[in-house]
Amino acid sequence: MTVPVILDVDTGVDDALAILFAVAHPELEVLGITCVAGNAALDQVVDNTLRVLDAASAGDIPVAAGATRPLIAPARSASHVHGADGLGGLALPPTARQARPEHAVELLRRLVTEHPVPVTLVALAPQTNLALLLRTHPEVAANIERIVVMGGSASVGNATAVAEFNVWHDPEAAAIVFDAGIPVYMYGLDVFNRVSVDSARAHELEHGAHPVGRIVGELLGHRIAMSEDEDAQYTGLIGDAGAVCSIVAPDALRTERRPVRVELAGFGRGQTLVDRREFAGEDLVHGLVDAWPVVEVALEVDAGRVAGLFLDTVLALPASSQYS
Ligand code: BDR
Ligand code: CA
Repeated sequence: MTVPVILDVDTGVDDALAILFAVAHPELEVLGITCVAGNAALDQVVDNTLRVLDAASAGDIPVAAGATRPLIAPARSASHVHGADGLGGLALPPTARQARPEHAVELLRRLVTEHPVPVTLVALAPQTNLALLLRTHPEVAANIERIVVMGGSASVGNATAVAEFNVWHDPEAAAIVFDAGIPVYMYGLDVFNRVSVDSARAHELEHGAHPVGRIVGELLGHRIAMSEDEDAQYTGLIGDAGAVCSIVAPDALRTERRPVRVELAGFGRGQTLVDRREFAGEDLVHGLVDAWPVVEVALEVDAGRVAGLFLDTVLALPASSQYS
């Protein structure tokens, strides 16, 4: 049986890797993809997403544009990580695919409510679209199996010392999603930063004969090129794709169910505070904190297994006619 998923993306080098994987994996059924501003401006994200679907030889997967900016904070570019085009200058050919005229929130509502079995939402970007969905159409929660979030961290951040980019970009949206009463699986930086393809393999793919392999190699290579230090955090990471891998290989990760709160103020803004205490403290004993949502937090990953799963899956994609 396949898992019905909807991806919410800000494509993005590693969102592209995630889309290729999701389309390729036989146990996943991609019902739709919604786009949000994050790694790049919304129009660029939509165009990138449509082009990547061509590269994946995907069927007619509906794509819709959503929020152009976070709920409250201003949009902030991530071009220093993903390049001016969001794809590190990958230059995929133009596509005849078009986004649907409906807003991402409407596409999400329709796809979720019309599906015969509960759907898994995969949030690979700032969670603005999902927060708008849950506030506008709270009834959709009944047909959402869970939300797999690439976001947050139980340790250090990347956008700030403590905040991961997707949560930091729109913390209010993340707080709404985490608090919605829907099961959340947090694929945060604790595991995101572990799963990579080594630079020799990425280079081999980029210059190899496999059309999708060349794209994957170049995307992975972009991360390497962005970093002056070959061992720095972006080197060869499969990034968002790892969150999608976790759906089909859950036993490759060790998770703990922990209370998590999204910080909204001060230097900690955008931090996901993960309560990893073994025993209740004074704050709980004296009723000084509200009940925090309990989240399944991924803390360890069999990185080699997940990277291998990723490569085996995307390299099984056929060559699209534009790429052979
Ligand atoms: C997240 O932020 C973006 O740069 C990536 O696409 C990923 O979703 C990592 O913090
Ligand atoms: Ca992303």
